Amino acid sequence: MPEEERALSPCLTAQDGEVEFSLRPKTLREYIGQAKAKENLSIYIEAARGRKEALDHVLLYGPPGLGKTTLAGIIANELGVGFRVTSGPAIEKPGDLAALLTNLNSGDVLFIDEIHRLSRAVEEVLYPAMEDSVIDIIIGKGPSARSIRLDLPPFTLVGATTRAGQLSAPLRDRFGVILRLELYSPAELALIVSRSADILGIGATKEGALELASRSRGTPRIANRLLKRARDFAQVLGSGEINLASARTALRSMEIDELGLDLIDRRLLRVMIEQYNGGPVGLETMAAAIGEEAVTIEDVYEPYLMQIGYLGRTPRGRVATSAAYAHLGVAMPNAQQTVSEQLTMNNLGA
Ligand code: ADE
Repeated sequence: MPEEERALSPCLTAQDGEVEFSLRPKTLREYIGQAKAKENLSIYIEAARGRKEALDHVLLYGPPGLGKTTLAGIIANELGVGFRVTSGPAIEKPGDLAALLTNLNSGDVLFIDEIHRLSRAVEEVLYPAMEDSVIDIIIGKGPSARSIRLDLPPFTLVGATTRAGQLSAPLRDRFGVILRLELYSPAELALIVSRSADILGIGATKEGALELASRSRGTPRIANRLLKRARDFAQVLGSGEINLASARTALRSMEIDELGLDLIDRRLLRVMIEQYNGGPVGLETMAAAIGEEAVTIEDVYEPYLMQIGYLGRTPRGRVATSAAYAHLGVAMPNAQQTVSEQLTMNNLGA
């Protein structure tokens, strides 16, 4: 199934666009969860404001859908500066980046999403910009080409990535602040669902909100999407209110189980268990078996399955834990149990 058709996709889909924007908190106070990142950021922001300096460059990393763009917007808003948004794949040539940088106002935040996808040539322009607020531009071609150095206003680069490990070391080293965003707890997601329901004028009880939240794989973007789908079911089949019963009806119809696993998650676990004896099985093999890309499995499916302790990564490949066997109602072979239990004990599966 293409990622954009999946109700549980943490990736931004076309339908999410406008609504997601209206739901975005504008201040750190409104932003729910990520307590540690928020606490530290508020100090850095206050300090930079006090010194009337640009905030140091910030790298946000973590699974998709956790609010990295939202947080970048909040940083700009709290600093009281302009906010420019772009992404790694959108910056094709060094000249594209030079144009962006030379148009910044003093102190502005430039947000580059998927920063791990910048080309080497573009990265080279970014280094002196981040370090010394200058860029070197080559004018002309061949023997008459020369390089001129342009001063930039002080600015803050906020980079976001799902894969900090793929960032080149020189780029990573130029970020003064590195924040890892974590999957949200059901209680935090329930607050987000209730807040979104208020903004969208949807009636939702606490139990209804918590039910949607508990099945949103720790991801606000999914929670907000399930809220909209649950509203459709409540409107057509029920009283219009999202309560425990109407939320459950909606989730059952979307084939999302009690833990928030959908058909693809269950297929992934089932393939590991039934075709590869619970693993270890290589990422590429799993990707081929379920017809998804390896990076999608790694970035989108695995973080939550690992968080709930259903899947572990070992040097020899992925393994399904005893909890995954139990969830799918499959008995675990004895030898497999040992691997899985060791994994759980070593906390690899959690
Ligand atoms: N909407 C999406 N993410 C959010 C968050 N962390 N807090 C409040 N509303 C949100």
